[in-house]
Amino acid sequence: MEADNEIIARWSGSARFWDKHREIIRCMFGPVTEGIVKEARIGVGQSVLDIATGPGEPALSIVPLVGSDGKVFGIDPIPEMVAGARREAGRLGLKNVEFEVAFADQLPLAENSFDAVVSRFGVMFFPSPIGAMREILRVLKPGGRIVFAVWHYAARNPFHCALSRVVDRYLDPPVIEPDAPDTFRFAAPGKLLEIVKQAGATDARERLMQFKIEAPVSVEDYWTLRLEMSKLRDRISVLSQERMAELKREALKSIGEYSTGSGISMPAEVLIVSGAKGVS
Ligand SMILES: C[S@@+](CC[C@H](N)C(=O)[O-])C[C@H]1O[C@@H](n2cnc3c(N)ncnc32)[C@H](O)[C@@H]1O
Repeated sequence: MEADNEIIARWSGSARFWDKHREIIRCMFGPVTEGIVKEARIGVGQSVLDIATGPGEPALSIVPLVGSDGKVFGIDPIPEMVAGARREAGRLGLKNVEFEVAFADQLPLAENSFDAVVSRFGVMFFPSPIGAMREILRVLKPGGRIVFAVWHYAARNPFHCALSRVVDRYLDPPVIEPDAPDTFRFAAPGKLLEIVKQAGATDARERLMQFKIEAPVSVEDYWTLRLEMSKLRDRISVLSQERMAELKREALKSIGEYSTGSGISMPAEVLIVSGAKGVS
């Protein structure tokens, strides 16, 4: 219960910003969605569950791939995130997608319901990844596939470190326990894979995916986007106006290294961890 409240406290404040920046986020993480779809072998007529969908991704991008005979379901514990996902589905006129408020380890869904269960940048935040994994396998059909995308190391991802390295020069970096819910909890190759195996998945695999995060935004807009999307916005709120202006100058210089003139382009690395539910 305490862990659930911590999740709600951490993510409630982010919902409006993830909704505000949804188009840019969809564009930046599009290659990750493609990687997930390929690994999960998603196709026409399938039923797909998206765990920790936030304001609706990758669920909304998967809807056209399953077609009108398929079905997509997204869950997230933050009511404001789910409201944003439902609004977007309505705006797009999508009929075969539903979103519900739920935690990954307490799914309000029948067993053996889905051909595939996916999650983009969610698993690292679950209080009990093994509990969530067992619950996910429960709702997966025998023979169905699970696919999770998690960040590789921060140093390999300027999306994170171009800004956090500058902030760390102004404020002590937070101390994070190795297994605490955090963005880089599963950065070490093999760590999430082991949990997937322990939960009982068959055919468990991991692959490193290298790609480019690209967004048609200015350096200044990227700075705003990254602050609003992350906990950095709370961290730097304690700085004086002068220190903040100094930090921003340095941050814009650091981000500027990835400016193409028409947008931002950064190398990026994620781990795609997958498995299946055995057919007995
Ligand atoms: C980084 S966001 C990813 C959102 C979306 N999947 C995307 O890629 O755009 C992480 C999401 O995980 C959700 N989350 C955190 N803890 C969770 C849990 N225990 N069960 C399900 N979702 C959770 C948060 O509410 C948040 O929406």
